[in-house]
Amino acid sequence: MTDRTTPVVRVANLRKTYHGTTALDGVNLEVAEGEVVVILGPSGSGKSTLVRCIDQLEKIDGGAMYLDGELLGFAQRHGALRPLTDEQVAQQRRRMGMVFQQFNLFPHWTVLRNITEAAIAVHGFSREDARVRAETLLEKVGLPDKAQAHPRQLSGGQQQRVAIARAVATRPRVLLFDEPTSALDPELVDEVLGVIKDLARAGLTMIVVTHEMEFARQVADRCVFMVAGKVVEQNTTEEFFERPQTERLQRFLSRFTQSLTASRERELVKELQ
Ligand SMILES: Nc1ncnc2c1ncn2[C@@H]1O[C@H](COP(=O)(O)OP(=O)(O)O)[C@@H](O)[C@H]1O
Ligand SMILES: [Mg+2]
Repeated sequence: MTDRTTPVVRVANLRKTYHGTTALDGVNLEVAEGEVVVILGPSGSGKSTLVRCIDQLEKIDGGAMYLDGELLGFAQRHGALRPLTDEQVAQQRRRMGMVFQQFNLFPHWTVLRNITEAAIAVHGFSREDARVRAETLLEKVGLPDKAQAHPRQLSGGQQQRVAIARAVATRPRVLLFDEPTSALDPELVDEVLGVIKDLARAGLTMIVVTHEMEFARQVADRCVFMVAGKVVEQNTTEEFFERPQTERLQRFLSRFTQSLTASRERELVKELQ
């Protein structure tokens, strides 16, 4: 089915409305094997809706999405498209990992069980294999001694790192992140971004919605800029930041540069006091 030219994820003319509000207005996107694509854009531009549609958490109103060339959510039967059954959708969803802004760990389970449950119950890993893999992953995310902890005993940054380990545990074809650091205190952001960077370096295919511009610059292969449900501009990361083509993106980027400068100024003032 797959070869090097088949994108891992392909989104074609995707449309989604919520009770008459257009959230996605004909979005096209391709993500190749091993590629890290960052999605940027103002609040309400459809970024969350896009990743939620890819993860089949939303019913779409038009267009199509593919994972490794396979149509998501529908099957072609006798020349017509029919929705897949819930079980078929669940099977497709198992090939993706999603990390949300709110970590969504089960509070009454240990960290180990949070990471291994889906791998054992759904993916058929043996308990032992799942445990060994979870321990390796906990080490990778910098939490080697937290297997028996419960989520409430962890900081937000640690919980999010567990959520990332859980998403990776089932060896997904693509990882989807929706503002994974937006709910964190500022001092915890870097530890989570560091883990995502490591996964990117290890070659995982990712779609990351974020407002962390410095992270986007360092980690993204390509950046996509959305406004009002449309992809307004997309480019390789360097071109995107150095030579934005549309006035809209130029304004969006300059706002961040200015706020960066302002926060650097405040730091300097503090240092000088
Ligand atoms: N569950 C929902 N019900 C109604 N409208 C929604 C819902 N989710 C998102 N929207 C609307 O869809 C548009 C895109 O939202 P969203 O994808 O959350 O944007 P972003 O993640 O870029 O901030 C917005 O106008 C938003 O108000
Ligand atoms: Mg959002």
